[in-house]
Amino acid sequence: MTQLLTIAIDGPAASGKGTIARRIAARYGLRHLDTGLLYRAVAVLCAGDGIPLADERATGERAMRLDPADLERDGLRSAAAGRGASVVAAHPAVRAALLDWQRDFAQEAPGAVLDGRDIGTVVLPKARAKLFVTADPDVRAARRWRELSKDREIAYRDVLRDIEERDARDAARTDAPMRRAEGADLLDTTTMTIEGAVTEAIHLIDGQLAG
Ligand code: C5P
Repeated sequence: MTQLLTIAIDGPAASGKGTIARRIAARYGLRHLDTGLLYRAVAVLCAGDGIPLADERATGERAMRLDPADLERDGLRSAAAGRGASVVAAHPAVRAALLDWQRDFAQEAPGAVLDGRDIGTVVLPKARAKLFVTADPDVRAARRWRELSKDREIAYRDVLRDIEERDARDAARTDAPMRRAEGADLLDTTTMTIEGAVTEAIHLIDGQLAG
């Protein structure tokens, strides 16, 4: 039996982890799951159904009924969806409902790259390679602002505040807080281009796979 190749990529918003994860998946011939989309979809669906995001039981129940097609919905990439996602993501019932989905995805041959906040710590603690991708908050906010301001007018300071609030919530929650997993290499992309960051990520992962 061929051994599954699982790669965990964690880090805060706009660190570059999503792009790196997609490129790593292509490089190693693996499937890719952006796990943030699951939490975003739960938040958007709950808001649409009138379920208060603070209601752990109701959001957890909605998370159990998540369908793959829900990940294709419009609006999941918005700042509001990101904010809502980090609120529902603090509920243990929501996290528990999404755990098997993520693990099942990773267990299908030939394996997968998952990116998120708790992949190396909770979802795939035995991943064959792990990265924690980060960058200074002002650099991350500038990247996110450039992306969002293509579609609409948005103030940089609002984007920065949003990122700082989300980082704080994600790092402070008791269940599966965002943190660098044991054995994860740190990749700080503050002064890197995306090409440079991808090259460095491949170098670090190759090193872990060889070790
Ligand atoms: O990565 P993204 O910005 O799409 O994630 C949205 C939110 O979903 C995060 O701020 C975080 O609260 C939550 N999330 C999480 N665990 C993951 C992925 C995302 O708690 N594995």
